[in-house]
Amino acid sequence: MKNNQNTVVPPLKLFNAPFQPSNLLSLILFFAFGLCFGILLTFQLKNVSFNLLFNEFPLYTTTNTTALPPPPTQNMRLEDFIHPSKIMHQMTDQELIWRASMVPKVRNYPFHRTPKVAFMFLTRGPVLLSPLWERFFKGHNGLFNVYVHCSDSFSNRTEPKHSVFHGRRIPSKEVQWGKVNMVEAERRLLANALLDFSNQRFVLLSEACIPLFNFSTVYSYLINSNQNFVESYDLMGPVGRGRYSRKMHPTIKLQEWRKGSQWFEMDRDLALEVISDKTYFPVFQKYCNGSCYADEHYLPTFVSKKFGARNSRRTLTFVDWSKGGPHPARYTRYDVTVQFLEKLRSDSHCEYNGRKNHTCHLFARKFTPHALDRLLRIAPKVMQFNP
Ligand SMILES: *[C@@H]1O[C@H](CO)[C@@H](O)[C@H](O)[C@H]1NC(C)=O
Ligand SMILES: *[C@@H]1O[C@H](CO)[C@@H](O)[C@H](O)[C@H]1NC(C)=O
Ligand SMILES: *[C@@H]1O[C@H](CO)[C@@H](O)[C@H](O)[C@H]1NC(C)=O
Ligand SMILES: *[C@@H]1O[C@H](CO)[C@@H](O)[C@H](O)[C@H]1NC(C)=O
Ligand SMILES: *[C@@H]1O[C@H](CO)[C@@H](O)[C@H](O)[C@H]1NC(C)=O
Repeated sequence: MKNNQNTVVPPLKLFNAPFQPSNLLSLILFFAFGLCFGILLTFQLKNVSFNLLFNEFPLYTTTNTTALPPPPTQNMRLEDFIHPSKIMHQMTDQELIWRASMVPKVRNYPFHRTPKVAFMFLTRGPVLLSPLWERFFKGHNGLFNVYVHCSDSFSNRTEPKHSVFHGRRIPSKEVQWGKVNMVEAERRLLANALLDFSNQRFVLLSEACIPLFNFSTVYSYLINSNQNFVESYDLMGPVGRGRYSRKMHPTIKLQEWRKGSQWFEMDRDLALEVISDKTYFPVFQKYCNGSCYADEHYLPTFVSKKFGARNSRRTLTFVDWSKGGPHPARYTRYDVTVQFLEKLRSDSHCEYNGRKNHTCHLFARKFTPHALDRLLRIAPKVMQFNP
């Protein structure tokens, strides 16, 4: 205390001293010095506190600015997280599935969410009927996302910039007909599509599939459905129960074994369950590779055993097996007529949301590239595509 008082005394003494010109000079000098000192001190303190805000090194930061870490150049936006704009990534399947299986605990979205339909094309090469699909999607941006799993690594045809298929190929791997890696590709498609939080419905299509209705009809049918569409039935004989392996017991019992079309349509909850399945899929990977045809049995069996209550047990993709053999009927140029398309659109009976309905198939296969010309001419009229 005493010392403090002592340091304050000299200026007071100056004031109390009798007036003298030399005293005035020292007084002015003293004030000028004090003012400069004060200004310098304020700036110095401002610098220090400013730097304190931005880095964790309170000392010496002002003396060497080159040592400061660079400021963050890009801030993470929620948008980048909920709608990843880049499809390609460096994740392994295991990393991708783990990442895609994350579910927000807060169920209300802090943004306006328009549910979208993920159209997932599982193809060998390019989507040859893409001009028809382009017409189908035209004018409906913001309601769908396209994903392509193309197993042929040599077909690196880049789609034109304006195409809905441009840059939509996901990191793909080899797929062999009937092998379990077909199901791995389906799970890869689901996982990639799940990364986008706006995707609510997931449709699996092949390069030989066509739509049977316009986009608005397909969208509302899918989004408003309270069921999933994974075909599933119990079939006796060699191509049904005959493909079951006793080694799958007890994880999967013979009476739980199901068969069905590979071409499914499911909602987000079921898609999450499918990619997260660590119990049944490994058993298929081990004992259903080859002439067991995992793509016709894994989802029908898994969904019927675990999530049967919300499954319609029918597929939305029309296919004609009536001619027999291991492959269904293929449609080429002269098969495509107005009558034929109208028949596919309405010639069946099923239930939709618990009520009888004639619209049972939204897609059909198998159409060859030779059918494209006629499809482009006839389909937009029959299906009332956007004019
Ligand atoms: C500043 O820091 C950099 C990097 O640590 C060092 O290379 C440089 O010599 C420093 N400059 C001064 C003036 O200390
Ligand atoms: C892709 O195209 C280029 C040139 O057109 C070709 O050299 C290459 O072999 C193709 N395949 C892959 C996998 O890059
Ligand atoms: C499944 O079959 C394919 C082709 O025969 C083979 O490359 C793959 O290693 C097999 N996978 C398993 C898990 O046996
Ligand atoms: C079938 O379902 C669609 C979609 O909800 C509906 O618009 C249509 O009227 C239904 N058709 C019949 C015959 O009930
Ligand atoms: C789609 O087709 C339905 C009839 O199936 C029609 O009522 C509707 O207007 C069409 N939508 C558009 C956008 O053209």
